[in-house]
Amino acid sequence: MELMDKIKTNAKKFNKRIVLPEAWEERTLRAADILLGEGIARIILLENPEVVHREALKFGLKNIGKATIIDPADHEKKEAYADLMVEIRKSKGLTKEEALKLIENPLYLATLMIKAGDADGEVAGANNATGDVLRPAFQYVKTLPGISVVSGAFIMIMPDKKWGEGGMMVFADCAVHPNPTAQELAEIAVCTAQTAKAIAEITPKVAMLSFSTKGSAKHEMVDKVVLATKLAQEMAPQFQFDGELQADAAIVESIGKLKCPGSPIAGQANVLVFPTLESGNIAYKLVQRLANAEAIGPVLQGLAAPINDLSRGCSVSDIVNLVAITANQAGGSY
Ligand code: ACO
Repeated sequence: MELMDKIKTNAKKFNKRIVLPEAWEERTLRAADILLGEGIARIILLENPEVVHREALKFGLKNIGKATIIDPADHEKKEAYADLMVEIRKSKGLTKEEALKLIENPLYLATLMIKAGDADGEVAGANNATGDVLRPAFQYVKTLPGISVVSGAFIMIMPDKKWGEGGMMVFADCAVHPNPTAQELAEIAVCTAQTAKAIAEITPKVAMLSFSTKGSAKHEMVDKVVLATKLAQEMAPQFQFDGELQADAAIVESIGKLKCPGSPIAGQANVLVFPTLESGNIAYKLVQRLANAEAIGPVLQGLAAPINDLSRGCSVSDIVNLVAITANQAGGSY
């Protein structure tokens, strides 16, 4: 079975509640209709119910009646969520008045619903910038215990099956944190190994990438990757990490053997952890275009509950897929 089909089948079993805060938006409503029709997740739409029903009628959508629809401007838990916001942001001096205003923003409401246990995950970003989707998640859902930084992984599916695990690899961070410290890079590596295991269903062999292999170059950027590799191994001894490795030593068997004999990862890596966001973001886009790879994601990792960010150019099927991934994260990997 193809990976996305497996993910959708698992999502149906988990039957999670996924909140979609951009429920006035055509692609979001069309995706919700498919998700409800196929039973991939229970869907919560944040919008004035009249608007949702009017748009659903306009687009000929048959399943929207199965969604829970919550009006951000007027619903019974508004006060309770505002109190929760004030409690969480006490140290930042958030007032009740400010909270009541913020909670009318569907992106904040979605994260508060998750925090209060009224939803299991969120998918947004079809019509909002990454920062606007992530900020409420960072501030109210926060990170997993032991993790201080959120990052974004891509599952890369290459037509050439010789790479990674039958053509599948996981790359991170490609989406969120511009310049991680060694500790943060170690956390990103551990989260990515977890994503590879839980979502891509592969046994992670993690290469910590650099422009140097095992001391071939000396630089503080190399030192960061060396330290991050050590910290990742200490944090998650159940996974295999090796670094610092150059990309060719990580994925090409003959070069791995030559430059790094004895490494359990060199030449066979299926998870690539990049030293900075710019290298990760550039790499995934180049592989997507030049190798004609399918790039599934970004799958956000490190948050205490699954929240995923769409590209504003997303299609209806991108939204369906990301909801299914989010439901899998809610069901198993968090
Ligand atoms: N993990 C966890 N918490 C974070 C992170 C992170 N990676 N980054 C910021 N935070 C927290 C901060 O600690 C702060 O918390 P506080 O309010 O409790 O003090 C809060 O989030 C806001 O922090 P800011 O520094 O003000 O962060 P800002 O909201 O400006 O930026 C953002 C966060 C938008 C994610 C920024 O790091 C960014 O722009 N990253 C790049 C995103 C991007 O453009 N990616 C490439 C495109 S995506 C693609 O191609 C697939």
